[in-house]
Amino acid sequence: MVLDEGTLPMTAPLLDTFNRPLRDLRISVTDRCNFRCGYCMPEEVFGERYQFLKREKLLTFEEIERVVRLIVAQGAVKLRLTGGEPLMRQDFDRLVGMLARIDGVEDLAMTTNAYFLPDKAHALKAAGLQRITVSLDSLDNETFRAMNGGRADVGQVLAGIDAAVEAGFAPIKINAVVKRGVNDHTLVEMARYARERGHILRFIEYMDVGTLNGWRMENVVTAKEIIERVHAAFPLDATSRAYDSETALRFKYQDGAGEIGVIASVTRPFCGDCSRLRLSPEGQIYTCLFAVEGTDLRAPLRDGATDAELSAIIAQTWQARTDRYSEIRGEGGAVISPDKIQMYYIGG
Ligand code: GTP
Ligand code: 5AD
Ligand code: SF4
Ligand code: SF4
Repeated sequence: MVLDEGTLPMTAPLLDTFNRPLRDLRISVTDRCNFRCGYCMPEEVFGERYQFLKREKLLTFEEIERVVRLIVAQGAVKLRLTGGEPLMRQDFDRLVGMLARIDGVEDLAMTTNAYFLPDKAHALKAAGLQRITVSLDSLDNETFRAMNGGRADVGQVLAGIDAAVEAGFAPIKINAVVKRGVNDHTLVEMARYARERGHILRFIEYMDVGTLNGWRMENVVTAKEIIERVHAAFPLDATSRAYDSETALRFKYQDGAGEIGVIASVTRPFCGDCSRLRLSPEGQIYTCLFAVEGTDLRAPLRDGATDAELSAIIAQTWQARTDRYSEIRGEGGAVISPDKIQMYYIGG
C-alpha cells in the first residue's frame, strides 16, 4: 500500500482518565536554590543545616535524557527545565544540549531566578535552550528582598535578564507571585518595566502549593484585582490563550505595547486542559503540582529496565491520572494533605 499524508499510521495520543493528552514535561533538576522565597523555601525551614538531596540520589544527565526521550516518544513536545534553581546544577548547559537533540522536542524552556545568567546565558543559548522565564516579584529592592529571603538585590536579577536578552533570548517571560500586603503595591511598576522592554510579565496568584508557606486565602490577590489595577494605569483588552493548556490568562495593552498574563490557579483553575507531567530530581514522575505520591523511575532505571518497560510505567501512570486539585479546591473540596510535594522539589 502507498501511504499518502492522509493515511499515515498515527500513534494514538496517550490520554488520562479525563481524556487529557500528555503534551508538556517539566523537569526539576535539583532541589537546591540560592534564594529563600517565603512562599517556596522559607528560611526558617531551609536553614544552614537543611539536608538537600545527596548527589547519588539525583538522576544523572544520561538518566534524565533517557527518561525524557521516552516521555517525548509518548507525546510530550514542550519541555521546561526547573528546580529549585536549575542553574545550581553543575554543567547544566551540557544537559540542555542533550535534551535539545531529542527528536520531537518543539519547545525547550527554563524557569530561573536569573542570578547566574550573566555567566551562563551565552552557553545556554549555544546549547539549544529556546526560552527563559525569570521569577521576579518586585522591582523595589526592599520588597524584593523581603520576598526572596534577603539573598539577592533586584539589580542582580535585572542584570541576569539583560544578559539573557543580550544572548538572544527574547521575549523573556517574567513570573511575579503576588502576595497581599507584601508586594502588591509594586505591581504597576513591574508592568511598566516589562512593557517598556518588551518582556512578557505574568502575575501568579499566590498558591497553596507544598505545606510550608502558611498559605491563606487572605494573602491571595485575585487575577481580577490584579488586572483591574494594571488596567487603570495601562488599559488592557483580554485576548485568547496561545495554546489549549496555557497556564496564563492573556491581556494585550491597548496602546500596542505587548501583553501581560495572569496565572489564576486559585480563582480560575485550569485543570481541565492540564497536560503537564513532572519529573523530580530523584526520578519520580508526578501527575500534578499538588500530588502526594509519585511513580518511581529511578529504581527500574538503575535495575536495568528496558525502554519498553520504562515506557509502560510512564503510560500506565498517565492513563491512571485523575488529578484536578485546583478545581477541587475551588469547589471547596480540597483536603490539604500533610504530605503534598514541595514546590522547590518539583518546580513551578
Ligand atoms: P509557557 O510555556 O511559556 O506558557 O510557560 P508556563 O506557564 O507553562 O511555565 P511557567 O514555569 O512559567 O509556569 C508559570 C507558573 O504557573 C508556575 O511557576 C506555577 O506557579 C504555575 N503553574 C505551572 N503549571 C501549573 C500547573 O499545572 N498547575 C498549577 N496550579 N500551577 C501551575
Ligand atoms: N505560589 C505561586 N507561585 C509560586 N512559585 C513558587 N511557589 C509559589 C507559590 N506558592 C513560582 C515562582 C516561580 C515558579 C518556579 O513557581 O515564582 O516563578
Ligand atoms: Fe528558589 Fe524559585 Fe523557590 Fe524562590 S521560588 S526559593 S527562586 S526555587
Ligand atoms: Fe494540573 Fe494539578 Fe495544576 Fe490542576 S492542579 S492544573 S491538574 S497540575
